[in-house]
Amino acid sequence: MLLHKSTWIEIEAYLARSKTVIIPIGSNEQHGPTGLLGTDWMCPEIIAHKAQTSADLLVAPTFNIGMAQHHLGFPGTIALRPSTFMAAIGDWCLSLAGHGFEKLYFLNGHGGNVATIEAAFSELYAEASFAGRPRGFACKLMNWWDLKGVMRVAQKQFPEGHGSHATPSEIAITQWAYPDAIKSADYTPKIAPTGPIREALDFRARYADGRMGSDPAQASPEKGGELVAAAASALIEDVARFAAEPAVR
Ligand code: NI
Repeated sequence: MLLHKSTWIEIEAYLARSKTVIIPIGSNEQHGPTGLLGTDWMCPEIIAHKAQTSADLLVAPTFNIGMAQHHLGFPGTIALRPSTFMAAIGDWCLSLAGHGFEKLYFLNGHGGNVATIEAAFSELYAEASFAGRPRGFACKLMNWWDLKGVMRVAQKQFPEGHGSHATPSEIAITQWAYPDAIKSADYTPKIAPTGPIREALDFRARYADGRMGSDPAQASPEKGGELVAAAASALIEDVARFAAEPAVR
């Protein structure tokens, strides 16, 4: 069930049987010469949308702009600074919790988001802790590649040149979902360099075409389909476990 394609009456009815909502969250940022700018928000959206076709799950609109300041040296990247991102995550959570959602499951597609999302959760919990009252809802962060079994599939598909940015696995997932948007390029070097992540000018100087450690030429729609299937079934199980945790006070 997709929140944006539902009415408030349908959401009210859903709340009578479940207090859990999935929020795909990612980033709109450069992904090398062939990766789509939307890769990091499209992957969790594709996986969550697939999962809700075979389970009674509610998926919120995708939070598609994240902490991508280091990619701002490449055209098309849109970023929130960490403080803005945290404030926005807080307002999303409070909006949903205000309607009665108690389990907010963020399915993330961008490694650069992790620290800020966790800090946003801590801010929300801290508000309640300092006031000496219950929060009333719980948040969970899960990266799609950390879902059970997904990395096993990716390591089998891409034993070398997986890397950490513009990876063949994330690009394969977008190729499976959007075959009309598959791009090609000659990669030089075949496997991109790796190193630290700092500000945008430093990033562009270190990683000329935007990739980090990856060889995206190995991506294919078929491999993407395998990854989506593994991730969607693991997501259904993981959300069920989170939903089954004892009721939030
Ligand atoms: Ni990515």
